[in-house]
This record gives sequence, structure tokens and C-alpha cells, in this order.
Amino acid sequence: TTKNQFIPKSVSGTVPQYEKLIKNLSFVQKRILGGQPLTLAEKILYSHLWDPEKIDNIVKGETYLKLKPDRVAMQDASAQMAILQFMLSQMSSTAVPTSIHCDHLIEAFKGSDKDVATAKITNKEIFDFLRSSANRYGIEFWGPGSGIIHQVVLENYATPGELMLGTDSHTPNAGGLGMIAIGVGGADAVDAMADIPWELKAPNTLGVKLTGELNEWTSPKDVILHLVGKLTVRGGTGHIIEYFGPGIEKLSCTGMATICNMGAEVGATTSLFPFTPSMYSYLISTRRQPVAHQASLYSSYLKADVDAKYDQVIEINLSELEPHINGPFTPDLSTPLSKFSDFIKKNGWKDEIKAGLIGSCTNSSYQDMSRVVSLTTQALEKGIQPKADFFITPGSEQIRETMERDGHFEVLEKVGGHVLANACGPCIGQWKRTDIQKDEENAILTSYNRNFRNRNDGNPSTMNFLASPEIVTAMTFAGKLSFNPLTDTLIDKDGKPFKFSSPFGDELPSEGFAEGSQAQIDLLADRTADIIISPDSTRLQLLEPFPIFPGKEFDLLRVLVKVKGKCTTDHISAAGPWLKYKGHLENISNNTLIGALNAENDKVNVVRNTLTGTDDTIPNVARHYKENDVQWVVIAEHNYGEGSAREHAALQVRYLGCPIIIAKSFARIHETNLKKQGVLPLIFKNDQDYNLITGSDVISTIGVVGLKPGKNVIIRVRRGENGDYKEFDIETLHTMSEDQIEWFNKGSALNLIAHKNSG
Ligand code: F3S
Repeated sequence: TTKNQFIPKSVSGTVPQYEKLIKNLSFVQKRILGGQPLTLAEKILYSHLWDPEKIDNIVKGETYLKLKPDRVAMQDASAQMAILQFMLSQMSSTAVPTSIHCDHLIEAFKGSDKDVATAKITNKEIFDFLRSSANRYGIEFWGPGSGIIHQVVLENYATPGELMLGTDSHTPNAGGLGMIAIGVGGADAVDAMADIPWELKAPNTLGVKLTGELNEWTSPKDVILHLVGKLTVRGGTGHIIEYFGPGIEKLSCTGMATICNMGAEVGATTSLFPFTPSMYSYLISTRRQPVAHQASLYSSYLKADVDAKYDQVIEINLSELEPHINGPFTPDLSTPLSKFSDFIKKNGWKDEIKAGLIGSCTNSSYQDMSRVVSLTTQALEKGIQPKADFFITPGSEQIRETMERDGHFEVLEKVGGHVLANACGPCIGQWKRTDIQKDEENAILTSYNRNFRNRNDGNPSTMNFLASPEIVTAMTFAGKLSFNPLTDTLIDKDGKPFKFSSPFGDELPSEGFAEGSQAQIDLLADRTADIIISPDSTRLQLLEPFPIFPGKEFDLLRVLVKVKGKCTTDHISAAGPWLKYKGHLENISNNTLIGALNAENDKVNVVRNTLTGTDDTIPNVARHYKENDVQWVVIAEHNYGEGSAREHAALQVRYLGCPIIIAKSFARIHETNLKKQGVLPLIFKNDQDYNLITGSDVISTIGVVGLKPGKNVIIRVRRGENGDYKEFDIETLHTMSEDQIEWFNKGSALNLIAHKNSG
């Protein structure tokens, strides 16, 4: 491999526009908020308002902020549909700097080089598509083997005080560099890329005050493992977690990133830290002097105002914190290390660890790895080998090459450590595990961030515990869940007891980071190149623009399904095996609403085809209607479309011929996604009217032509056969704004952008 001399302009040259942000902020703070002191999260969000002059008031938890993000980052799985949609905008490049990272599609099996080579073959069509479209639109493309999105972002793009959207839940990792970085669905990323204001309900701020200083065995990971236990998996919903207090001064930038990364485990919008000296050092060490310099000049913008009020405050004294182990099966089951042995005994679990895995986007910093190496070196000197399999996932090529240069791998490999590719691998189930039988009960310990059942190896009987890399490593040497490295001993090669000394390591490499020797990033000059999609592909398909609203009322719409009870985006567009079709709308549409319970027959995914009079699956009936040019509606109860912000749930119904969904209420994000795709979400004025409609009714509208904000739409329900039917009307509300009505009229938000671009 050759040295990569090429540092792209957008990496070395992204210097934040603090003057402009501060100007925006002071307008909002003085004119709208009466000069009240603000938290850092509020400052960054409000400085990114699209059009502050149009705002009268901001009520947290209520007002929708229209924001202008500075950057977008996408991983390879979620980037596919985002790019396919972006293509519809007919823009020649993305409106904000954007990057794609190939990290999710690499399976861990035979080691780094072989696994990357295999992934390049099995996912060739996806990588070719992503690379060629990145080339075309000026997107920075980080190919397979270059690293995991969040580590690469931290090393290259994260900028204090800026706002980034990432199509992955652990995007908040960049909060370790003082950035507001929010995990979103592809549709939101497309907003930022296509210059559409991105909406976020003004979040509350949960302040976490850190005091004291971490003990030798305790690491930043333990701060978040402890906090997740305290807050539970839902405790951060609707909040940004903002850390403050004297305890932050001694934390490394990468340690703060670990803490922010796992804020996703409490459902927080994001997490962040104010600008600290360790952020400055990290920026310098990763060759971003201009950003470091600018941030230190504007450091007062990069912290909360004096007297800022948090909506809630939690205090953690780092001096009293001990290492924690969380799990199995949920990240909020948090046990202090000193009590973990009893916890295992109490549950009657086998006292054995089958594998220890460290690294990933959460914990593969230089500090993490050098502390791990300090423990491994001690064991090596005493002739002690790990009792369980030991895997290391570097977060990026930059960190991997630095570790190699500094002799870390030599030590780790001497004790039998397996270095995996710079990719997600076992963190996302891309782990071809061979050491256990299918469904065999066993325990693994990881320094990753999530531990839901099945997540790592697809085996529901694998108990997966989360801990710091240091604790994972020490316990992997023991091979026992009951081992506490702070108090317990191992037996060395001479039969003598050996106790680990506490780990230590450098926060940053003294020689600076290696550049990463594989060509990591493509920013090619040929912007006219074709985007590569094979016409035979089953995984990728170009999107056709949705048809415009023909300007007349809808008539004779069929009820595809009247859904009973909960209908999440998972019910509307299931995940699992369907994920491989994320870039192929036609194929993935075969899962449309397959989780929906039909109120007519109490069966899941069985509805009456009212054209043929026979029962069939929901996708089959929808397709049959589409083939016969018959449009259809869904009738639903409360909070239709709750759950993850999966844009496919909106795209698929629209693709199969649904112009309207009528529900008792909608989950806000899904409601917006429907609007973006040109579907009109209508809300029963009276909830009881849901009971009036049956699956065999036919529906027409009054009031969709000339739709206005606040103007209700009448649904005319017809029941019965030709000539012998009765009709009645139901009143519905909608939440469409003027702009959104334009999306509807043009067929979708992207059609509107394309329309504007074509002049
Ligand atoms: Fe990848 Fe796991 Fe992080 S899936 S992005 S390493 S959370």
C-alpha cells in the first residue's frame, strides 16, 4: 500500500463559521428569548435556525425548530435509499458536505484483509453504486476497510459548535468534540443534502454534572454504563444530555466521545460536552489546526452561559464511580463490578466467558487501546494467555495503523488476539462465529454499545455484557464472569498468583496519528461519471418520481386494511431479512404492512381483495390494486407510524398506490415522512369515526383540491354495491403547512426541489 498523501480540501479546510452562528444566536437570544442564559445545546441549535426572523417563540418540547445542519454522514446500509432519493432532486451536488462510510456490510470471519476482500465481492453492487454516486455528487467516500463511521467522523469531521446529521443511531459520538450530532433516518439526511429545512422538536436539556476524577480502573465508559442504569433505555427521550462541571476537565476527548456515543442507549436526542483543552489537543493531533485555533478563539460560544438552566440535573462524582458491567440483553441492567460475581451466582449462570471483544465505534481510541496493551503486557510477561477468544476491532484505518506502528498489535497478537477489519463486524451481527453450536447458551463480554438479544452473533442464547475495554480484557484473561481484576488473582506460568496492576496509557500517540496507509477516501474529480446500478440488481433500483397530484378529488379509493391497535414503522416495513432490499423499493415493498393486524378478521397480514372477493396478504392485495390502477387508503388507530424513523414505511405505501392515510393520530416523524413522499395524512376529527369505516367501504374526498392549512377534509364513505349503496361523511383534520401542501401538489418534497432546479 502507498502512503495516502491526499488530504481532501473538505477535511483539512472545514473551518467553522462561528461569526455567522453567533450572529444568529444573539438575534434569537435577545429578540426571541429575552436575553435568557442558554445551555450549550440550546446555543448550538438556535444558532442553526433556518430563518430566525420568522420565529415568535420557542417552547421546549413543543416548538418545531427548522434547522440548517452543517454536515451529513451516512453509513453504507442507510445511505442507499438516501442517495436514491437525493437523485430525484436533480441537484448536481449536495447542499452541505456529506460523507459515506462503508462499515456495516463487512462480515468478521477470517481476519481483517480476507474479510474486507470478501465483502468487496459480496457487496460489489452496493459499493459500486455508493462510490459512483459519491463521485457524481461530490460526496466523500470512505470505502470498505477505511473505518467505522463515528470514529472516522471524530477523526476528520466533528467540529465543536456545529450541527451534523448522521444516518446511524450512534452519530452522537461526535458530541465528544462538542458537536451536536444527531442520528436520523435517510429522509432527514436527504433534507439536509437537498437544502430542505430539517425539523426537530425543541428538546429539553438534561444536565449531567461531573465532579471528582476517575480512579485508575475506572474509565469514561463506566460513566455512561452507570448513567444508562440510572436513566433506563427510555430515560433520555426528548432530551439532549449536556455534560458540565469540574469533572470534565480531566476527561480525554475520545473518552467523552464514548460517553456521548452511548447516550443513544437512553434514547436521548444527542449528548455533548463543552469545548475543553483535550478537544483542542485531539484536533491538533488529528491534523486540524485551523479548527482547533478557531474553536479556542470562540470558546465562550462553545460552552453553556453562566446561570444556564437545565431541565433536569444529575450529578456523578467520578471519584466514587467504580467499573460497571451492563447486561445481558439490555444496556440498562447495570451492575457495579464489585457486585457482579454475586449477580452471576444469583442468576445461576455458568461462570464462563467464551469471547471478549474490544474496539468498535464506541471504544477504539488510542487511550483505550494503550490501556488494554498495558494489561496485556503484564499478562504476557507472566506467561498468561486469555482463557477466552479475544477480538479487537479498530475503529478506523488511522487508529489501526497507529497501533501497528506503536507495537500494540504485536502485543495483542502474541496473546492470541484476533484483529478484525476496521468495520462494525460483530457489533451488528456480522460475525461468522464457529466456536459454539446454534442456540448454545454462552456469555461474551464486549466494549460495544448495544447488547440486545441476537445482536452480536444471531444466537438468542448468547448473553452479552458491556464493559470498558480494560475490564473486558482483564476478564477475558480469566475466562470467568466472576473475576474481579481489582481484587482477584490469576495463576502465572510458575504457578504463582498474579494480580493485574491498574491499566495506564497515553491519551494521544506521542508521535501523532499515522495517516492511514490504505487510500481511505475518494473525492474524485469526474462529476459527470455514470452512477452504476445493474439493471438486474435485486438490491438496488433507481426511483421514479412519484406522480403529481392531478388536481381533482380522490374517488373510489379502496380500504386496503383497517389496522387494529399499534402500527409501528416495523409493522409497516419490517426489518430483519428485508434490510438487504433497502435500496430496492419494489422488492422491499413485499413487506408492506405485513405486521398489521386487520380489525376486520383479527388476523395479521390477511385482508380481503375487494376487486376479487378473495383473501390474500396485504402486499399482494396492494400490488393487485396498483396493477389495476386502483388507489387505496389505510385506516388506523392512534400513533400510526411510531418507532424508528424508517422512511421506507412512507415510501412503500406511496409506491404501491396509497395517497391518503386516515388515523386517530400519527407519530410526528412518520407523519412528516408521509408528507415528504406526497401522502396526505388525515386525522379523524372524532376518534369514534374509526369504528364507522369497514374494510369493504369505498372512499372519496371533498376538500383535497384547494387544501389549506387548518381547512378540514371530508371523507365520503360509500358502502354497498353498484346502484345499491349508502353514503355518509366523516370529518378529518390535517396538519399540512403551506410548504407541505406544495410537496403534496408536486407529488413529493423532492419533486418540488427538482421542479425548482429545472427552472
Ligand atoms: Fe457500527 Fe456498532 Fe458502531 S454497528 S456504527 S460499530 S454501534
